[in-house]
Amino acid sequence: MTLTTSYVQEIEALDVPTAIHQRRSIKSFSSDPIAPELLEQLLELTVAAPSSYNLQDWRIILVQDPAQKAALSAASWGQQMVVQAPVTFVFAADPNAWQKNLPLILEEGLRSGAWSEGTASYFKQAIPQFQTALKDKAREYAIKDAIIAATHTALAAESLGLSTCFMNGWIEEQVKAIIGAEDPDLAIALLLPVGYKAEARLNPGRLPFSVNVSIDRLNNPYPGV
Ligand SMILES: Cc1cc2nc3c(=O)[nH]c(=O)nc-3n(C[C@H](O)[C@H](O)[C@H](O)COP(=O)(O)O)c2cc1C
Repeated sequence: MTLTTSYVQEIEALDVPTAIHQRRSIKSFSSDPIAPELLEQLLELTVAAPSSYNLQDWRIILVQDPAQKAALSAASWGQQMVVQAPVTFVFAADPNAWQKNLPLILEEGLRSGAWSEGTASYFKQAIPQFQTALKDKAREYAIKDAIIAATHTALAAESLGLSTCFMNGWIEEQVKAIIGAEDPDLAIALLLPVGYKAEARLNPGRLPFSVNVSIDRLNNPYPGV
């Protein structure tokens, strides 16, 4: 599929299986910038991710400022990817976002025609009930949504000629301070530097299905075809 951006180049986007197989966690990025139109396209593909009840309870912070990047690297045990890459997506998860987002998603679901009046009125009472009952699992549920969105970003980036590295190695309170998050409930789900790779990296390989894929119940290994 050819995606035309208004500025300079035409990108021959990779298909999904190719992007999945080709993606590697890149540890060395060039400083080449990402064209704003390309970054916006990446954001569109990111927020196309599904979320529980379509709540879209992620908060995505694009860290681009050199001082912010340096601070983020320091909060990530000195990992250099966030300094080198032109942008690092910080995926934060807001367990309380449903309160603010609910009227907006109901309105949009109705406007798009995806949800009937009946569906919208059901969600209007079901979502607060469900979210409130989550109690201390609310953080985990919001993180699930944010990580699914981050996975969209990584695969879309690969498809558009960019590279990424999923990152778990950071100190949450420090990352929160850097992005200006004061809400104690806000969780950091993942950091994802995005840019042009400055290295070739091999696939470290995957375990055979027999190790971690089962049929019907655990420890009944999928035999393959
Ligand atoms: C949730 C998650 C967190 C990760 N955190 C880091 C990290 O902090 N630093 C790093 O260099 N790589 C990190 N990685 C990259 C993994 O080491 C890498 O995905 C794994 O070795 C497989 O390599 P591949 O991504 O090239 O297939 C992380 C990957 C995932 C999925």
